[in-house]
Amino acid sequence: MRIFLDTANLDELRKAAAWGVVDGVTTNPSLIAKEGVPMAEQVASICAIVDGPISAEVVATDVEGMIRDGREVAKIHPNIIVKCPLTRAGIQACSTLSKEAIRVNVTLCFSPAQALLAAKAGAWCVSPFVGRLDDIGLEGIGLIRDICRIYSNYGFKTQVLAASLRSPLHVVQAAEAGAHIGTMPFKVLDQMFNHPLTDKGLDQFLRDYAKAFPEGPAGQ
Ligand code: E4P
Repeated sequence: MRIFLDTANLDELRKAAAWGVVDGVTTNPSLIAKEGVPMAEQVASICAIVDGPISAEVVATDVEGMIRDGREVAKIHPNIIVKCPLTRAGIQACSTLSKEAIRVNVTLCFSPAQALLAAKAGAWCVSPFVGRLDDIGLEGIGLIRDICRIYSNYGFKTQVLAASLRSPLHVVQAAEAGAHIGTMPFKVLDQMFNHPLTDKGLDQFLRDYAKAFPEGPAGQ
């Protein structure tokens, strides 16, 4: 499963990119707004940090507006994936943009039926939101499982991008369910490193070595 970072914060992106485990980035209008820099400018900066698919969302809600904005956003950088919401207009815009070879991420997907429409419209990927379904008492990961099964039944090329992942457990469950991509906040990626036995084991190794060779690492 590829790992995307769900942030528009450049410091977080630089730090995570340096770890060498980030394959791409997703943004949304809320994340861009938090950084206080207009979308085109911020997304161009993100493209300079991470060399991989970078999702940038249109804010128009009508078909013509989404198509116009999608074409503009796609011009920012060859790595741009245009994000359209899973509405009637968004699916129509996805269908048009996809035929022009502009890659579309259909976002705000909450049901297998919606995901089927995104695939039919030629989306590059669909974004089912796991955490937001959990928030209303449903099992978000079940949606990832259902969509992966449906896409595989029919050989759809649309990728499943598990979004709204709120914990390392969500990431693992999305991978087990077969998601092609998981997008997560910096905090969740950072938490994925943690295990008390790693810390304990490393501490023991270093203490044992220091005891045997108190003069320091020169004799390695
Ligand atoms: C994905 O593209 C969305 O930006 C994101 O994953 C939403 O996550 P949230 O539900 O934690 O805001």
